[in-house]
Amino acid sequence: MAAQKIIIDTDPGQDDAVAILLALASPEDIEVLGITAVAGNVPLELTQKNARIVCELAGRTDIPVFAGCDRPMNRPLVTAEHVHGKTGLDGPTLPDPQMPLQDRHAVDFIIDTLRAEPEGTVTLCPLGPLTNIATALRKAPDIAARIRRIVLMGGAYFEVGNITPAAEFNIYVDPEAADVVFRSGIELVVMPLDVTHRALVTGPRNAAIRAIGTPVAEAVADMTDFFERFDKAKYGSDGAPLHDPCVTAWLIAPDLFTGRHINVEIETTSPLTLGMTVADWWGVTDRPKNATFIGDLDSDRFFALLTERLARL
Ligand code: BDR
Ligand code: CA
Repeated sequence: MAAQKIIIDTDPGQDDAVAILLALASPEDIEVLGITAVAGNVPLELTQKNARIVCELAGRTDIPVFAGCDRPMNRPLVTAEHVHGKTGLDGPTLPDPQMPLQDRHAVDFIIDTLRAEPEGTVTLCPLGPLTNIATALRKAPDIAARIRRIVLMGGAYFEVGNITPAAEFNIYVDPEAADVVFRSGIELVVMPLDVTHRALVTGPRNAAIRAIGTPVAEAVADMTDFFERFDKAKYGSDGAPLHDPCVTAWLIAPDLFTGRHINVEIETTSPLTLGMTVADWWGVTDRPKNATFIGDLDSDRFFALLTERLARL
């Protein structure tokens, strides 16, 4: 099968970085057409820089990186330095990027690419707030029919929330954008906290990555060492959840994951539950099914895949 063409929309973030590295390490499965940065974990100035740092780490200065929206559609930006550190990529010491940032706005790159590529061949992979994607859909409604599918990290049902008691970070930061995407009619595959909290980098798993011994592997191990302190303290878990790599792993090996095709809607008004993904997991309404909501993964096979692929870089 030909490699799937994707655009990664991201706010790196250590786990975003690992998701990008997994994609770049898997050319037989994934062709990365470009990386679009959005404001999220840290402001846009840092996310676009971090995206370039990650490309350079992988030796892929040929991947075009674009800066997109610097704030959510209707709200001030909320960031997550308390999780990711001041730079968003705290952990390893990595050089400032030399590769240029592209001139074009990320939203225009998304629109132009979807119009230029054959219909139904490009998958969007959002790993942060959905601002760039929703802005592109608003600006160019014709692209909706051209998207193969959207595979995104966001939301939660059983795990409920991480940034508030009711909401997951990516959806909470820009709930209006999430609402546009979830109502778009585009095929959606969603990686909520329910699954990403099972993709835990435990000590032995991180040791296996570090043992690869390459600069990429060491940087990844340093990133997860940093990133895990937050979740260990908060949840008492065994390590860092690799949220965003679930997206790129699903593209490579969807059989590692299980989920349900259900209705998922976004809360955009209640101050108490803003950004909640109201997921009809139990099928108690007749609201239309609009998303494949993933609930579990084979974590041993997930880490075997990740470790094998990272060793290629
Ligand atoms: C999501 O929020 C960010 O902190 C992570 O990069 C991930 O995309 C998890 O809630
Ligand atoms: Ca992210």
